[in-house]
Amino acid sequence: MYKIALLPGDGIGPEIVPQAVRVLKAVGQRFDREFQCETALIGGAAYDATGHPLPEETLRLCQASDAIILGAVGGPKWDNLEPHLRPERGALLPLRKQLGLYANLRPATVNFALADASPLKYDLVAGLDILIIRELTGGLYFGEKRREDLPGGGQKAVETLEYSTEEVERVVRLAFTMAQKRGKKLTSVDKANVLESSRLWREVVEELAKEYPDVELNHMLVDNCAMQLVRHPKQFDVMVTENMFGDILTDLASQLTGSIGMLPSASIGGQVALYEPIHGSAPDIAGKNIANPIATILSVAMMLRISFQLEEEAAAIERAVDSVLQQGYRTGDIMQPGKIRLGTVEMTDAIIRELGEQAQ
Ligand code: NAD
Ligand code: IPM
Ligand code: MN
Repeated sequence: MYKIALLPGDGIGPEIVPQAVRVLKAVGQRFDREFQCETALIGGAAYDATGHPLPEETLRLCQASDAIILGAVGGPKWDNLEPHLRPERGALLPLRKQLGLYANLRPATVNFALADASPLKYDLVAGLDILIIRELTGGLYFGEKRREDLPGGGQKAVETLEYSTEEVERVVRLAFTMAQKRGKKLTSVDKANVLESSRLWREVVEELAKEYPDVELNHMLVDNCAMQLVRHPKQFDVMVTENMFGDILTDLASQLTGSIGMLPSASIGGQVALYEPIHGSAPDIAGKNIANPIATILSVAMMLRISFQLEEEAAAIERAVDSVLQQGYRTGDIMQPGKIRLGTVEMTDAIIRELGEQAQ
């Protein structure tokens, strides 16, 4: 029996998480596995109900679970709260930090059926399979922040970008290990021509590289990397980078796959791992049954593989998603001429149907 904490959150979160759970239950039935899910409040929904975006009870449930599935947090309703009460700064970041989730794995793979849905040319993206590893508990997100009033009027805002040797080492080591299991190529992305933290980052990477002679390493400056991801994304295999560069580059990479609604993620490094789509709460489409549930469904597959070593179950979900896309089913964000448009629930129905057919 596996104990899973569900944190739907805000916006489209409460639409997509229940759909991902339906897929999980279908897999459980087919493979005779029991998943016990418990839901807790997080983000704006938690603030509205309890006055805090990360209630103690939610944190405790996460710590007592075998894995966590999160939808998304935030939205215009909570944008003007004090920073420590905002869903992003008051809930998501502390949750990642408290659980010790220092590495965020964001795979961008392109299904051949969807290669035409990407804004890039078919040949540039068809068959793409890259893994971006984003450092998740350091950098600008967690460094000291403050405001000062200036004597002449106006203010100064200070943000601190900090990394220690150890923080860099653990995530980069993980990246080398993952590269060893994949295409044996690692690109470390930094801004070592300007930032001191990036100079340290590069030194640590160079030192560790000696332990992984079978992995081909290259360093790339982040501005060039953004350009290279669009120019020739297939040059990459595994990439590793600091927190904010990773945040930005993965939203960019999501478009290679056709939509941000396709990209799952796994946040690992602590006792319990957290699985979430890389997209946000998408307030502009919330409540309309049009959000793409696939990023969250594929996050469930990552959970089965990484937290529970249920490889066959994970692969079954991925195959079902592929197959449904091949059959021409699409949500609005990946819609193409001549294809069949489905809502959030109906796309999930199709994936569950496909899972059932695989079993025949
Ligand atoms: P967003 O990712 O929510 O949305 C960006 C665009 O992508 C929107 O047009 C949206 O409709 C679309 N989109 C996103 N997910 C989709 C899906 N599954 N299917 C179809 N279309 C989808 O980013 P944003 O608009 O910059 O942020 C909205 C809120 O979400 C903000 O409050 C932000 O802080 C928060 N956010 C939370 C997380 C998280 O909880 N992990 C991640 C990113 C943003
Ligand atoms: C993400 C999000 C978060 C981040 C925000 C909501 C704090 O954009 O998970 O990618 O920047 O990490
Ligand atoms: Mn982001």
